[in-house]
Amino acid sequence: MKSIFAVVALLALATARPAHHARQAPATTPLNDLIKAKGKLYFGTATDFLDTTGERTDTTYQEILNTTSEFGAQTPGNAMKYDTTEPTQGQFNYAPGQQVLDYAAANGQLVRCHNLIWHQQLPSWLTSRTWTSADNATLQGIMKNHITSLITHYADACYAWDVVNEPLVDGTGALQSSPWLDAIGPEYFPLAFKFASDAAAQVKAATGKDIKLYVNEYNDEYAGTKTTALLNLVQSVQAREIRIDGVGFESHFIVGQTPDRATQAAAKKQFADLGLDVAVTELDVRFSSLPPTSAGLAQQATDYVNSVGSCLDVEKCVGVTVWDFEDKYSWIPSTFSGQGEADLYSDDYSAKPAVAAIQELLAG
Ligand code: G3I
Repeated sequence: MKSIFAVVALLALATARPAHHARQAPATTPLNDLIKAKGKLYFGTATDFLDTTGERTDTTYQEILNTTSEFGAQTPGNAMKYDTTEPTQGQFNYAPGQQVLDYAAANGQLVRCHNLIWHQQLPSWLTSRTWTSADNATLQGIMKNHITSLITHYADACYAWDVVNEPLVDGTGALQSSPWLDAIGPEYFPLAFKFASDAAAQVKAATGKDIKLYVNEYNDEYAGTKTTALLNLVQSVQAREIRIDGVGFESHFIVGQTPDRATQAAAKKQFADLGLDVAVTELDVRFSSLPPTSAGLAQQATDYVNSVGSCLDVEKCVGVTVWDFEDKYSWIPSTFSGQGEADLYSDDYSAKPAVAAIQELLAG
């Protein structure tokens, strides 16, 4: 059957603005089907279902998102974060996250649930005061309640949870400042996995299904201080005989500055050697200046291939997730002014050369 991208691209060609740079022909072979044939679990994408974002009402976007042969997994970009799920202490808002889970279930897609403990996107009741070690027991209770509530509520609908997101500071490898660190100290990290594994055990008892428990980080895709610190952090959990199942490699890259395939594979292998699953969790490759040139688009394709290829090279790498597939919904332009075009598809839904390059890699 013809890929949905082919149909969508034809529609786009008929109606959209002229492309401002050369585009590759649309995809014809679905990425999820291809990566599964290589023994991986999924090729997935982030998506956003908050009322303030456009994805819910964009029918073309929805059609692609719901094509399981293209995307075998979804990650909610914001819908399961702390500020959305527990805006008032002890009062949970599960609805936005549930929408993602319902769509994914209807499509037979996995969901990487994202995320439980982070220093960002926290509700004001957590950030509007200073926490100290005197609050250790209080914060442990808050953390336990949040983790347990979300894991047991969404239960086996989550294939995996990012239990702790981005725990480390770039460059130094120190733990990020957060209410959790301020009150509980470094022990917050293994404790989060203890609470998560206890909750996952409840889900297992009720459903028979295991949820994979991940730490998710960026700039861990190559050797360096941060990656070494992450290895130590993971081992500190294992040394306490607490369960940790996987490491996420976010992989937010810049065109021409993406680590090569062997470098990325070597970083993943270090964690796989500890017995962990690994995954590319938030892949995108942005242009630091716009518009892209043809040579730039070719380089971007190579950069995407290096990252997807590194997952193929490591047996314990379960899959690849892009941090949305459509430039229209990319987080980049609002965070890095003047940068963008980081996703596989341009804002008119035309496929970039990266799509065909990944297909070629996966079909090879
Ligand atoms: O929901 C509010 C809305 O009420 C308000 O009117 C609007 C005005 O700015 O903001 C909306 O919230 C935005 C939210 O996305 C939902 O669209 C926030 O401002 C905005 O900061 C937030 O950005 C998200 C970002 O995480 C926050 O750190 C991005 O969409 C999301 O893609 C991004 O995802 C992160 C991963 O979780 C972790 N790794 C890095 C990745 C990229 O930053």
